[in-house]
Formats: sequence, C-alpha cells, structure tokens
Amino acid sequence: MKKLILFFLFTCLILPSLVFASGHGHKREMKKGILLVAFGSSIPEASVSFENINKRVKEEFPETPVFWAYTSSMIRSKLAKEGKILDSEAMALAKMTDQGFTRVAAQSLHTIRGEEFDDLVRTLAAFEGLPGGIEKIVIGAPLLSSQKDMEDVTRAILANLPAGRKQSEAVVLMGHGTPHPSNVFYTALMYHLQKKDPLVFMGTVEGSPTIDDLIPMIKEKKSKKIWLMPFMSVAGDHARNDLAGDEPGSWKSMLEKQGFKTEAVLKGTAQYDNMLDIWMDHLKQAMTDHP
Ligand code: CO
Repeated sequence: MKKLILFFLFTCLILPSLVFASGHGHKREMKKGILLVAFGSSIPEASVSFENINKRVKEEFPETPVFWAYTSSMIRSKLAKEGKILDSEAMALAKMTDQGFTRVAAQSLHTIRGEEFDDLVRTLAAFEGLPGGIEKIVIGAPLLSSQKDMEDVTRAILANLPAGRKQSEAVVLMGHGTPHPSNVFYTALMYHLQKKDPLVFMGTVEGSPTIDDLIPMIKEKKSKKIWLMPFMSVAGDHARNDLAGDEPGSWKSMLEKQGFKTEAVLKGTAQYDNMLDIWMDHLKQAMTDHP
C-alpha cells in the first residue's frame, strides 16, 4: 500500500512537474540552415568556383536554406567600394539568428585548418546558445583535414592533371601557405603526390615549400616543360599574378628564367567536381552530426 501511494505521488504529482520544468515556455520549431564560409576573392572570374559550390550544395540539400560568408575583411572592404556587399561570418550568423534558425551546419571552404579556420571556430562558438538564438552549430571540416582527405585530395589532383601533359613533364601546384602550424599539410601532400607521380610538386606563396625550395628538386628530374596549376579553391589574384603573371617575381617568370617552358591551367580546386565531392562529404557529415 505504501508503495502504491508513493507510485501515485510520483506519477501524478512529481512526474508532470518534471516534464513541465524542462518544457517551460514555448518549444521552438527546429529550423536548419547551411552556412558556407570562404576566404573570398576580389577577381570576378573567380566567382565560378563559388557558383559551382552553391549549385552543388543546393542540389544535395534542396530543402535547406544556404547562406554565405567571406572571412577576408580586406576582400570584403575592397568589394564594398564597388557596391558589392558581402557578409562576414558574424554578419551571416546574426542574420540566421534573427531569422530564427536553430541548427546551423557551417561548412569551411578553406583548404587547410589554418588561421582563418581557427577564427571561424571561435566566431561560431560565440553565436551558439545565445538566448532565443541558434541552439547548435556543427562545423564541416576544410578540404584537407584527415589522412583520408589527404588520400582523396591526392587522387583528385592526379585525376585533374592537364590532358595535354606528357609523362616526362613536371607539374607545379601553388598552394597558399601560412605561418600557421597547419602549413605542414602542403609538405605532406607533396609526399603523397610524389609517391604516385614523382614529377608533381607542391609549393606555396606564403609558406613552405617555397618556389626556391622546389627549383633544385625540379631540375634533378630533367623535365623541359612545367605545367602550373593553382591549389586554391579559386583561381584568383595569386593564381593570375604570383603563379602565371608576366612580372619578374612570378613562378612562371622564375621558372622560365631557369630555362623551363611553362603552361598554366588557371582553375580553382572548387571548379573540379572530384574536389567538391570531398567538401560535400564534410558537409554531409556536419548535417548528420546535427542532434
Ligand atoms: Co594570400
């Protein structure tokens, strides 16, 4: 009898109060959104990369609204002077908060987990769990984040080498590079590429390996011609000027001075479907990680 009374007390008095305590106020309807975050580019031709990503994400997730943010304040202010207003990640998240999104999958369109990515992680954390705001934000990893990515990216690069390239000709890829510890991804990637094709080299404009590191290595291979390709999501300013420009400091000029013939293919990595597949895998992962 005593047990029965306790049971009665629990089910009729205590249990409902527990249920109501957790559901205090109104329950918000779940609203999912995708935020795509890129560095940005001031070169209009580079927008083909962004359009390609946008198209692909909308095909994969037709029900989910897609927002964009650009992490480079330099590029945003340059474009703002031309009347093109692009959102920072904070601005895009504020808009999503305002529009009642409760779940956000934020996909980094960066190549490595560098400074831009670290900053993004902190900004996303600041916007998660604000009163009445976004309840949960899941981050999609940049292109090169794991050993599997390393192998997938290697395969994709080798599949995307120019059709006209002869086996005896070298290929030099230009990554961005950074003082951030993640710069080691570029050297690791060259290791993986060279295991499969010893004439494919990976250099960087702002990190290591430099073009000066690569020149003696390329010379050993006795290739006469070098194909130049950017290894950045967009073929923007670095690709057009630092890689394939006619100025004396460009990689093209430096290699031609060494007696090599060169030919450039100016396509950003986000223009290749097999590269997009890798970013999309990361976004799909972020979407399934949603609680
Ligand atoms: Co740069």
